[in-house]
Parts: sequence; structure tokens; C-alpha cells
Amino acid sequence: MRWTTQGHILITGATQRVGLHCVEQLLEAGERVVITYRTEKPVVASLRELGVICLQADFSNPASIQMLVARLHRDVGPLRAIVHNASCWPVDNVPGVDLNTILDEVLAVHVRAPYLLNMQCEDLLRRGAQGWSDIVHLTDYVVEKGSVNHIAYAASKAALANMTLSFARRFAPQIKVNTLAPSLLMFNPEDDAAYRSKTLDKSVLGIEPGPGVVFDALSYLFDNSYMTGRELKLDGGRHIR
Ligand SMILES: NC(=O)c1ccc[n+]([C@@H]2O[C@H](COP(=O)([O-])OP(=O)(O)OC[C@H]3O[C@@H](n4cnc5c(N)ncnc54)[C@H](OP(=O)(O)O)[C@@H]3O)[C@@H](O)[C@H]2O)c1
Repeated sequence: MRWTTQGHILITGATQRVGLHCVEQLLEAGERVVITYRTEKPVVASLRELGVICLQADFSNPASIQMLVARLHRDVGPLRAIVHNASCWPVDNVPGVDLNTILDEVLAVHVRAPYLLNMQCEDLLRRGAQGWSDIVHLTDYVVEKGSVNHIAYAASKAALANMTLSFARRFAPQIKVNTLAPSLLMFNPEDDAAYRSKTLDKSVLGIEPGPGVVFDALSYLFDNSYMTGRELKLDGGRHIR
């Protein structure tokens, strides 16, 4: 990793899986990291002991996002990057769950929170830039393909992908804005053998790559001076299967 920073790197929803892995790698590289978390878990205390600033925020609540923005200004200051990692993945047909609730939830997490954070932390990103600063939107392969069972989720991630274009134009040249669009990165513990096999078979590379491919891609984006408004696809070649 060649880049150096003068501000903190903010990763949302970073107490597990992909986000947590990126935090651990950034700490190893000597970076200063701030995360958001929704649920208080033991890992939050461990990260605080390692010097990570951990800010609680539930993105389904607009007031909570406003409090987060205020704390970023008051307690953190310049930002080298914002990585919009927080995500929820509800299916559309959970018995007894109102479809409005599902749509509201995915739009809140994947659209409203990134929109507000980008708009209201622009000053922090400009102050944290050393040459440039970065915004990275974590979307999903389904943005290009749609999804039969996660329609609301796919639509909200497509909106997030679109915001990459708008923010890249609005914030150039000092703040670069790009998308990472993964397909399978990590299975969930409850995924059974049949689901795993069917999912692995969707890409030509046929592996569960783990969170490291996201960190590698982040490092590439942070290093690169000539890429904005673009998308890196991390999908094992699903489109050519
Ligand atoms: N894992 C994959 O295979 C895969 C595939 C394609 C795309 N992606 C994308 O890659 C990113 C990382 O994936 P992941 O599997 O590591 O995610 P994950 O395990 O689902 O974790 C996402 C985090 O988002 C937080 N979150 C959810 N709802 C929230 C809310 N209302 N307010 C604030 N935080 C909220 C959760 O916080 P709490 O734990 O505190 O509740 C959780 O820690 C996501 O953007 C995902 O869409 C992942």
C-alpha cells in the first residue's frame, strides 16, 4: 500500500465480516480508522482499545445519521475516505413483514445514509485530502442483473451505484468517488451445502474469495489518481458463466 493519509478513514457498519477485515488491515498499515456500528457487540470495545473511534448509528433513523455527522465534525475532523459498507439484505417475501418496511429499510441504509454522509462530510473529505480523498460505495453484482428475491435490495444498491456518478462529478477533482460491486464474498454460517454449491457454480472462478478482495480493491482505489465515477467488479466472472 503506497498511500498515506492525513485524515481518518471512515467505514460504516464495520464490526463484522468485510468491514471488520478492512479495519484490521488498515490498523496493521498504521492508518487511523473510525467506524460506525448499529449493535453494541464485544468487538466494539476491542476496536476501541486498538484506537478505533467507534460511533453508534442506526441508519434507519434520520436523527441518528444527523448525530453521526455532528460527532464526525466534533470528535473526528478531516477524513481521508468514507467507505459505505453498511448493508442489509432482506428478502421481499417474509411472511408478516410489510413490504413498505423492507423498502424503507434498504433505502435508508443504502441511499439515505450515504447521501447524507457524502453531502454533509464534504468539508471533512476536502480537509483530509492529501492529493485526493476517496468515497467508495459497496454495491452488488445484482445491480446489473436484478434479483428475483431481493428486488428492493437490488434497487437500492442500483441507486447507490448511480450516486457514484453524481458525487464523482460534483466533488471532482479533489474527492474521487467509485463503486465496488461484489458478488459472493463470504457465505453466512447458516448457508447449507446445497446453497453453497449452487452459488459457487454461478461464477467461472467458482470460489468464496473472502473479504481480502475488497481490501485489495480499496487499496487500489486509494492509490489511484486517475479513476473516478467508475466501478470495479469483484464477481469471479459471473457475467461470462
Ligand atoms: N458478503 C457478501 O458475499 C457480499 C456480496 C455482495 C455484496 N456485498 C456487500 O459488501 C458489503 C459488506 O458485506 P458483509 O457481508 O460484510 O455485510 P454484513 O455482514 O451484512 O454487515 C453489514 C453491517 O451493516 C450494518 N447495518 C445493517 N443495517 C444497518 C442500519 N440500519 N444502520 C446501521 N448499520 C446497519 C450491520 O450492523 P450491526 O451488525 O451493528 O447490526 C452490519 O455490521 C455490503 O455493502 C454488502 O452489500 C457483500
